[in-house]
Amino acid sequence: MSFHKLCLLVLASLINCYLCAHVVHVDRFIFTVDDHDLFVSQSAFLEQESNRSYLSGHMMINRLINDLTLVSSMDILRPPRPEMRLYNVKLNFCSILNNGYKNKFIRMLYNNYAEFLNAKPKCPLKPNFNYTLTRAYVDEDMLPDLLPECSYRMKMSFQQKSKLLAHIQFDGRLLVKKR
Ligand SMILES: *[C@@H]1O[C@H](CO)[C@@H](O)[C@H](O)[C@H]1NC(C)=O
Ligand SMILES: *[C@@H]1O[C@H](CO)[C@@H](O)[C@H](O)[C@H]1NC(C)=O
Repeated sequence: MSFHKLCLLVLASLINCYLCAHVVHVDRFIFTVDDHDLFVSQSAFLEQESNRSYLSGHMMINRLINDLTLVSSMDILRPPRPEMRLYNVKLNFCSILNNGYKNKFIRMLYNNYAEFLNAKPKCPLKPNFNYTLTRAYVDEDMLPDLLPECSYRMKMSFQQKSKLLAHIQFDGRLLVKKR
């Protein structure tokens, strides 16, 4: 996988996207449980305030997870043009959490987003621990200027071996900020 794709993935997987002079608006944030035996409790919600989208939620599982694969894709929609797939990747998510990816950029993102969590998640993920995300948002200044105004759809699914545990979908828009 190229560095470019990895950047896109990580940006997306951290809810954010692109564009210094842009506003990243999230219209929909859905967390769906696929393995109902694993999750004790979970939530995901979105707040819109002053043109910024804030994401919060929590999850609690009932057994150790030490092997987690992330499959993620992101599509850009600019009707009437055809949809454009930015990436579709499969990564060892535990390696990312445990800093197995030595890439400086990924680390910066990881550290930036870890501040919205009550604890830095590491593998194995712990049972009966309430992993909580509080008002995570896009730091637009951190993002490179890549894309025009568009809508996006980002999907992330979490798997153990080939078993689907849960998946997340974000739908939103990249808007040009009029300065
Ligand atoms: C939100 O964005 C709109 C349109 O760009 C602008 O008119 C408005 O002042 C912004 N509001 C805040 C609180 O930034
Ligand atoms: C986990 O924490 C969140 C946020 O504080 C809270 O809303 C939720 O009820 C907690 N869930 C459990 C099962 O403790």
